[in-house]
Amino acid sequence: MHILVTAGPTREPIDPVRFLTNRSSGKMGYELAAAFAHAGHTVLLVSGPTALDVPDRVDFLPVETAAEMHAAVANHLERMDIAVFAAAVADYTPSTVAPEKVKKSADTLTLELVKTPDILGSARTPFGFAGTLVGFAAETENLEANAREKLTRKRCDLIVANDVSKPGIGFDSDQNEILLVYPDHSEALPQASKHDLAHQLVQAILELYTAQKK
Ligand code: CTP
Repeated sequence: MHILVTAGPTREPIDPVRFLTNRSSGKMGYELAAAFAHAGHTVLLVSGPTALDVPDRVDFLPVETAAEMHAAVANHLERMDIAVFAAAVADYTPSTVAPEKVKKSADTLTLELVKTPDILGSARTPFGFAGTLVGFAAETENLEANAREKLTRKRCDLIVANDVSKPGIGFDSDQNEILLVYPDHSEALPQASKHDLAHQLVQAILELYTAQKK
């Protein structure tokens, strides 16, 4: 099968030497891409900048900004059977990029930010994706309720939710603990390495795909 995975943070430029980004390491998305490839599938990994090696037998499309990730996904989504959006896409980007380095002058500096395109939220409409759609939700409170709201709003088949306020898991860690939120039930996957969780997740996503085909 053909599987698209988005991963990593995005980088939103302020000027030629500065950007806004977030603490995503990309580990969960890269482990997922590797696990799908290991299971024999054709994987396209669309990734923001990370320090990770591209997994073996995975096609790689590097991007920097949310707008570039949006364009890359728009180009490739149609031929995919499954799409997993694990990227931590910046929600806002500077409204203008200064062509030259911004010099220090006043005591305060105000940046105007504008919303980035919601890539996962575009998958069904306008992209027209009809395959199995999996999103992620990084939350600091009301994990299940917030994830369930995203499941409905972004028309996903599954949301992989994790509580990023818990010490030792999530952002930048090798460990994670996730809650799988389906339209009619939820299932907790207890703390484990991102490597092990990725293999469990791939099984769950492939089962979901098979159930939808019946
Ligand atoms: N996502 C995306 N494009 C964006 C923002 C988010 O594709 N511009 C995807 C992420 O890859 C993830 C899911 O949407 O799969 C949830 O992202 P999150 O930032 O938690 O959702 P938001 O809709 O931005 O909600 P919140 O108000 O909690 O930030």
